[in-house]
Formats: sequence, structure tokens, C-alpha cells
Amino acid sequence: MVENYQQRFSKLSEWLRRWSGLWVPRPFVGLPVSWEADFPDLARVLRALSEAEIDELESPGPDFSHLPEDFQGWAQQAKEFSQWPDLAKNEDLLPQVARPRRVPGKKWEQVRHFAAACLTHLPAANRDWLDWCAGKGHLGRTLAAWTEGQVTCLEQNQALCQDGETLSAKAGLTTRFVSADVLADSPQTLLDPERPVAALHACGELHMRLMQSAVARGVAHLAVAPCCYHRISVDPYPPMSEAARQSGLTLGRHHLRLVAFDEVLASPKRKRLRRVEQAWRLGLDLGLGESSGEDRYRPLGPAPRSWFRNDFAFFCSQMAERQELTLPPAWHPAQAESRGWQRLRTVRALGLVRGLFRRPLETWLILDRVLYLQESGYHVQAGSFCPYTVTPRNLLIMAQGR
Ligand SMILES: C[S@@+](CC[C@H](N)C(=O)[O-])C[C@H]1O[C@@H](n2cnc3c(N)ncnc32)[C@H](O)[C@@H]1O
Repeated sequence: MVENYQQRFSKLSEWLRRWSGLWVPRPFVGLPVSWEADFPDLARVLRALSEAEIDELESPGPDFSHLPEDFQGWAQQAKEFSQWPDLAKNEDLLPQVARPRRVPGKKWEQVRHFAAACLTHLPAANRDWLDWCAGKGHLGRTLAAWTEGQVTCLEQNQALCQDGETLSAKAGLTTRFVSADVLADSPQTLLDPERPVAALHACGELHMRLMQSAVARGVAHLAVAPCCYHRISVDPYPPMSEAARQSGLTLGRHHLRLVAFDEVLASPKRKRLRRVEQAWRLGLDLGLGESSGEDRYRPLGPAPRSWFRNDFAFFCSQMAERQELTLPPAWHPAQAESRGWQRLRTVRALGLVRGLFRRPLETWLILDRVLYLQESGYHVQAGSFCPYTVTPRNLLIMAQGR
């Protein structure tokens, strides 16, 4: 059955507009969150959660059955809005090829599923693919090996191009690497109607530019798995489709960041480091708030990793010196740190509500791209190309010119 993306998009836009009070405010920036006044029972239950319970509820496939009905209702709707067909459903379609050397395990899972989806769903595409923002060209080399075509990899970073060329030569492939900035004019000439283009995890503006240039140059086949939607040079987000421009939703970069905020692949060590950073920033901020009388989080900019390997007092003194801040006269680092950790627990607990909207927002962004391509005359299908646990950015848009 052909999916009516337009209908799905307008229902989703309406739902996101209706509940914007739940996903726009960021608990990290200020408490209480505005929705707490409207849902006091939910706020009370969430604020009482332990750190272990929050960890559990933040992990993939959580059990929300013990949470209040409002929360469960939103979770159910979020799930329904975020359903996508599995484009790599039939594992038998995947060529049984061993993982090439120097391709990390998770990357190989992404690449082989992506390449299989290209070959299955775009069978009329020419074999001479262009890999857009190719990195070392793991995808491009895989397509070259499976199709025996002349694949071109476009990548800005010269060192990655050189590594890719070496890997390509070792595998006996003739993959060509072109080192260029895809946002500049010249690489656009590599886009020609007969050359299909694949883009695996080209960030925000990089894949948006590809789609716009591909439409302008009449590229017949496109396969794009977007990522890092917030990496755009303008704020708010400029919708791609007419449908999104008419949707009444305006997304700022902060909203787009929410999409990329899943920790599913973060190692326990990385998660722990992030928690330390968040708790320390909150602890320092609470202290600064007391001395200034302002109750609003003040971002203090990025800090070197080394500051977080030392203790909280060291972090505060470094930050105070760099930012020319005055710490409160009666400053007790141990107390401030402990308040930072308590605050973080509350922020994470209340943030569970906002987290429900992560995948629906990503779905909205994918549908914006799908509708843009449809409005431009393409036949489009979208779905997941690999399991979420391989990469949370597992949605793929495939388009064929009519
Ligand atoms: C997230 S990586 C994805 C790489 C590869 N497609 C993969 O999946 O392994 C994004 C790549 O885009 C490249 N890139 C960033 N900005 C670029 C630009 N303006 N022009 C070309 N490549 C760019 C980066 O160097 C990086 O290799």
C-alpha cells in the first residue's frame, strides 16, 4: 500500500503543535517546567523517581505501565506517529559478505543494510554511485564491490580520502575519491541525472544541500539517511517542503538537538562523564544564581575534558576564572555539588516527557524531506534500514525521478 505521507504529516504537525508545551521547555534550563502546573500528579510521580528508575525509563523499549495515564497516552501516540516500514526486512537480500578489514562492526552493519536497501529498492539505478560526504568511503566501496560499478566518493577531509583510497586499492577496487566541500559550487557538477547518489549520515545542511541540488540537476535516484539535523547555519530551521512551511510549526536549533539526544550507543563510561558534566554545570549554576538573584540557567560554553577529570571545586574555579564569575561568598563546593546531582535527577526525570517527542520530531523532519521530494516530482519511500540499536539515525529516504 502506498503511504499517504501528506496526511500523516498534517496529523503529526497538529499533534506536535497541540503538545508543544511538553517538548519546547527544557527542564535543564529552568524549574519548575511550565507543564507541571497542568499535570501536577505526573510531575510528583516523576520527581519521586530514583536515579536507577530514570536509567531504566531512558533505555530502549522502556516499560511505562507504572506511570500516570497522561504519560502513557503520549507515549502510545508518539509510538504510533513514529512507525516506519523496515526497508531491509528480508535479511536474505543482504549479500553474505564478510566484514572488510578496518570497517568497525557497527559501521559495517549500517553500510551493508544501507547498500542492500539501495540495490533492492532502486534496482533501475545506474551502478556508478556517488557517495556524498563519504568519510573513508565504506559505503561507496561496498556499493562498488557489489555492483562492480565506478563509484565516486565525495569527502572534504583529505586524510579520510587518502585512507579511503588505500582501503580501496587493497580491496582491488577503482573507487575514486574527490576531496571537496559539498557546500561549495564545484562539487555540484558531480551531480548528473544518471548518477545515483547515496548519503549515509551526512549532517544537517550537507544532506539538505544534496537534496536541493539533486532536484535542481534532475538526479534520478537518491538514497539519504539524514543525521545531526541541528547542524545548520540558520536558526530557526528552514523547512524544505511547502507542506512544512504551511504547518504552523517553527523549530529552533534547540528542538532539532532533541532529536540527536539519544544515548542508546553511548558506553557506560561516556554516559557517566556526561552526567558529571551536567551535574557540575547545574551545581555551579545554582550557586551563581544565588549570588546574582537570577533563576535562569546561564550556559558557560564548552569546557576542556580535563576539567571534569579533576574535582568539582577545580572545575568551578577554572570556569569562574575563564568567565570572570564571582562565586558566592559562602561557597561550599561539596554542598553545591550535591545540589547539582539532585537537580540533575529532577531534570532527567521531568525530561522523560520531552524525550517522548524525540522520535516524532525526527519523523516530522523525515516527512518534510519526503514531501519536498514528492513536491519536486519524485516517487519516494522511507523507512528504517537497520535496527535502532545499530544506529539511532536509522531512517532512510529513497527517491526516484518520475
Ligand atoms: C558523519 S560522517 C559520515 C561519513 C560516512 N558517510 C559514513 O557513514 O561513515 C560525515 C562526513 O561528512 C564530511 N563532511 C563534513 N562537512 C563536509 C563538507 N562541507 N563537504 C564534504 N564533506 C563534509 C565529514 O568529514 C565526515 O566524513
